[in-house]
Amino acid sequence: MKPEEIAAMSEDEKSWTLEELEATMLPSHAGNKEGRDVIFSWLAKYQEAKASGQNAINGTVGSLLEDNGELAVNPMVSKTLREQADLEMSAYAPLPGLPHFRTMVQELSMGDGLPVIQKHGIHMDAVITPGGTGALYMSARNLLSPGDALLLRDLHWGPYNTIAKECDINTATWPLYGEESQVDEAALTSMIAQLMNDQDNVLSWLNDPAHNPTGMTLTYSSRARVLSIFAKAAKDNPDKGVTLFIDGAYAAYSDDHHGWGHTLAEFAKECIWPGNLLICFGFSASKSHTLYGQRCGALVMLHPNRAFVDKLVEVMLHTGRGTWSGAARLPQATLHSIHSDVDKYVGWLSERDRLQQMLNERRTLFNARCEKEGVPILPSHDGYFAFLPHDTPVQVAQAAAARGLYVVPLNGGIRIGLCSIPTYNADRAAGILAEAWRMSA
Ligand SMILES: Cc1ncc(COP(=O)(O)O)c(C=O)c1O
Repeated sequence: MKPEEIAAMSEDEKSWTLEELEATMLPSHAGNKEGRDVIFSWLAKYQEAKASGQNAINGTVGSLLEDNGELAVNPMVSKTLREQADLEMSAYAPLPGLPHFRTMVQELSMGDGLPVIQKHGIHMDAVITPGGTGALYMSARNLLSPGDALLLRDLHWGPYNTIAKECDINTATWPLYGEESQVDEAALTSMIAQLMNDQDNVLSWLNDPAHNPTGMTLTYSSRARVLSIFAKAAKDNPDKGVTLFIDGAYAAYSDDHHGWGHTLAEFAKECIWPGNLLICFGFSASKSHTLYGQRCGALVMLHPNRAFVDKLVEVMLHTGRGTWSGAARLPQATLHSIHSDVDKYVGWLSERDRLQQMLNERRTLFNARCEKEGVPILPSHDGYFAFLPHDTPVQVAQAAAARGLYVVPLNGGIRIGLCSIPTYNADRAAGILAEAWRMSA
């Protein structure tokens, strides 16, 4: 090809519009995807305000920040990570995860409930995943068929929708909470029944304890009620597969870290586990071990039939292999070192407790001021967030930003990241939110 021809061609390339490129290069299913995150755009607004000298409060991010605005990092975790042998940094991990990590993560997920669950004939296994997100993805890929609907609570972490979309599944919802109890039992029962009319499998993701974006945590009796509703639905419909996936991403910062372990232990004791009921638990080291970027999580699966659990491991591994290949070895080795050495464990635990207390203190101040001002935030018990329902969330977020508080407007309301608001500003943040809410009422 002559140089003048090449020059003409590159000129032609330059004249492509973005629309033309998208239409030509991207099949429609890809062209419809949008990745910009509303959280990052509101964080950018906070950063601009801060840079321009405003006494601004950052309630936008979903990571735990110290009162000085720096990322909270558990020093025992980073120290142990740095001490790992070269092999742990460089080698592949076995695809299901390091064997000792797989055993340990079951204990981290179920706590004291683990031996009780096992003693009563329930088998358990875990596969390593890149973060809790990987565990959610594996379940969506394999426990529903394309076109099925995934059951969520009406308020949920936004990326649930992204994962569902990537897996070609739809979503259905039940209310976050009911009038009297914490659970709208009638709505949950009827939604499961409705789904069973339309599809062969039901999969529900339940982010508990310390729900994102409200901070709501189910009580012991609410957990038992939810579980019994799924179990009854399974028992009454033996031709349908039912999976309850508990997303425990924030369990480490809840009052009852292993609440689901206790609930499942009680359930296992009763010997009423239907064969068509699977329980999954999504473990994440992102928050508990301040290892957000290391991408360490696990899918823990519980079922009365050992051979079926083995089959599930194989199925899930196939998805992992075909999506991200294997998960990182270094964080698995790090967590195992911490939890198999008393001194390291105590060091990790005391820092984790300090961070939890910091969150509790912020929440107590924030909730008290909201109550005083009459701001109708949703029930908020522990974890990273609080949530104010509102029909025009952008308006409220803008009014708050004008007064120095930066929060995230989501569908149906405002997410307040208590995890990123300094303790000394928690009361002021609630005061600003109250003003913004009154202005937008
Ligand atoms: C509700 C919820 N589930 C799961 C996750 C998964 O996090 P990761 O993939 O970092 O473990 C998050 C992270 O923010 C979350 O908020």
